[in-house]
Amino acid sequence: MAHILITYASKKGSTAEIAQAIGKELQAAGHAADVVETGTVASLAGYNAVVIGGPMYMGRMVSDVGKFVKRHRDELTKVPVAGFIVGLAAVSKDPAGIAWAEKALHASLAPLKPVAETIFAGRLDPAKLSWFQNWITKKVKSPVGDFRDWAAIGAWAQELPGKMGI
Ligand SMILES: Cc1cc2nc3c(=O)[nH]c(=O)nc-3n(C[C@H](O)[C@H](O)[C@H](O)COP(=O)(O)O)c2cc1C
Repeated sequence: MAHILITYASKKGSTAEIAQAIGKELQAAGHAADVVETGTVASLAGYNAVVIGGPMYMGRMVSDVGKFVKRHRDELTKVPVAGFIVGLAAVSKDPAGIAWAEKALHASLAPLKPVAETIFAGRLDPAKLSWFQNWITKKVKSPVGDFRDWAAIGAWAQELPGKMGI
């Protein structure tokens, strides 16, 4: 049994729920999994592996992810790491948008070398957005709704222990 940290950044809650789902899947596989926001992780002591996730806003991964990696860089180089990015680019399946999201994930996790990386479709709920966010997402014709694919999220989580060698 391994002790796994799933750490996430989230502005509107959808990434937080994805992180929780990954944690539940790893617990169901017999591991100890803690799901903690990046800003509240004090130390990685005792963890055998780390999963890091966050959403994409305005073409970039939220900065809390990169800050977390910088803060814990030395500890993170000693354990297997996996990363995921959440965005609406995964909804349209537009190859350029997906490539951009993957690049954003890489940039946030650098210089780590994750054993697994993926992009998950997220959620856009106009009721949770500011006036400006609603204006901008309408302007770029963002798809509206909850596009999270729980089966795909669960399947990715199930493959993690094998990829992490834990
Ligand atoms: C203002 C704004 C900008 C966004 N920009 C992007 C983007 O550049 N690329 C993308 O794929 N998704 C984008 N999204 C979609 C978010 O990534 C998606 O809503 C995600 O599920 C939000 O995660 P959270 O609920 O954890 O904050 C944007 C959403 C908003 C509201």
